[in-house]
This record gives sequence, C-alpha cells and structure tokens, in this order.
Amino acid sequence: GFKKKEVHVLCIGLDNSGKTTIINQLKPKDSQYEDIVPTIGFSVEKFASSALSFTVFDMSGQGRYRNLWEHYYKDAQAVIFVVDSSDKLRMVVAKDEMDQLLSHSDIKNRRLPFLFFANKMDLREALSSVKVSSMMGLENLQNKPWHICASNALTGEGLHEGVEWLTDQIR
Ligand code: GTP
Ligand code: MG
Repeated sequence: GFKKKEVHVLCIGLDNSGKTTIINQLKPKDSQYEDIVPTIGFSVEKFASSALSFTVFDMSGQGRYRNLWEHYYKDAQAVIFVVDSSDKLRMVVAKDEMDQLLSHSDIKNRRLPFLFFANKMDLREALSSVKVSSMMGLENLQNKPWHICASNALTGEGLHEGVEWLTDQIR
C-alpha cells in the first residue's frame, strides 16, 4: 500500500517554550499525552502530515541538556525551533543558541529547512511573529529556507500551517 516518506526532524528551543506541547498537538489523538512535564534529555515522537511521516527528536531546552542537541544535527532533515513569544528577557538567549546552532559544522553548509514557531501567541504580552523574527535576526539566515508561524500550542492554532510548509520543503 501507499507509505508516506519518513523524515527526521529536530525540535529545539529554550525550556518552557512549548516544544513538547506543540508535538503533542500534532500527534494522533489516541497517542497524545494527558500531562506534559519538562522533558528530561529528549524524547522521540511520531506524527504525520499530508505527505510525510515525521520522526521528531523533542529535545529538552534546559541549560544542562542543551549540549545534547548537537549530537542530533547530522541526521536531521529539518529543524523546528520554538520560541516563547512572551519571554522577551530570554529572546537573546534563544538567539544565542540559534547562532551557535547555525555555525555548527553539521548545519552550516546544508540547505536545511527551519520552521520557527512564535509560540504562546495567546498571552497578552506576546510579541508578534514579525517582532520575534526581527529579534531572532532571521533576515540574516543564509542558505536556509525558513518560515515563522505564530502559534498557540494549547489550541493547536498555527501548527498545521507550519507543518504543511515544512512538508512542501522536504517532499
Ligand atoms: P522543555 O521540555 O523543558 O524544554 O520545555 P518545552 O519547550 O517542551 O515546553 P512544554 O511543552 O513543556 O511547555 C511549557 C509550559 O508552557 C507548559 O505549562 C505548557 O502548558 C505551556 N505552553 C505551551 N505552549 C503554550 C501556548 O501556546 N500558550 C500558553 N499560554 N502556554 C503554553
Ligand atoms: Mg519538552
């Protein structure tokens, strides 16, 4: 029968940005977690889009685990980078982590699609995706196709638009 193409994706971003909540929303209802706790190390999850079957490495964003990220760069066919749009104070930390990622030898010269979620858009203090994009310096992102979506992982708003963009980039 018809089998969707399998792709490996890395989901990163600071702790508390909403990575696990986003991935959980994208999973089929019957395999969703009821309670989400901070990720320890990482967790491997699966979800599908219209044309692709995704295996996603949901990495912990806590400082002490961020050194794990680089071990998964090589096998990633795309990166999902989640930003908490309401966390203005730590946006520079998120940018710093992204700059390190972009200069890594396993990332630097590859045409790797980057999908950004400007998450927690439901919060009153949340910055717009345009503002998040400029604070993260995305206009300087070279040789990487990228896209940013405002999202609310609690309701799922914005998530499918992002995943369909990613699907178009990879298939
Ligand atoms: P680590 O695993 O520690 O790296 O964190 P994470 O990025 O996986 O964050 P997680 O999904 O655990 O979510 C952190 C908190 O943010 C939880 O309390 C979520 O319910 C909350 N949260 C996630 N997405 C949203 C959102 O879009 N809006 C609001 N208001 N809260 C959100
Ligand atoms: Mg998590």
